[in-house]
Amino acid sequence: MTGSIEVLTVCRKDEVAEGSVIQVQKDGLDLAVYCVESVFYVTDNLCTHGPGYMNEGYLDGHVIECDFHNGAFDIRTGEVVSPPCMVPLKTYAVLDDAAEVKIAIS
Ligand code: FES
Repeated sequence: MTGSIEVLTVCRKDEVAEGSVIQVQKDGLDLAVYCVESVFYVTDNLCTHGPGYMNEGYLDGHVIECDFHNGAFDIRTGEVVSPPCMVPLKTYAVLDDAAEVKIAIS
């Protein structure tokens, strides 16, 4: 059974400009949606280090830098790439869809 997997439609793809990140709040989740080289990525929006928000940070390639203390994460994996962050950012699997950003939530 895959009953514990839920599909959530986050936004339309045309809402996220190439090379940018937007915030989407949905179903109690605060998400950051990125578009890099026409590929979409979704992570939690709140920094794991403190009160910074990814959609207010600086996106450089696949790295998002929090504007609060300049910690940074790889948006593909959530891996920390720059301190002071220590805890990875939660990432979500983006499902294949032509027009919408959809994620799997388990
Ligand atoms: S709150 Fe993001 S680096 Fe400190």
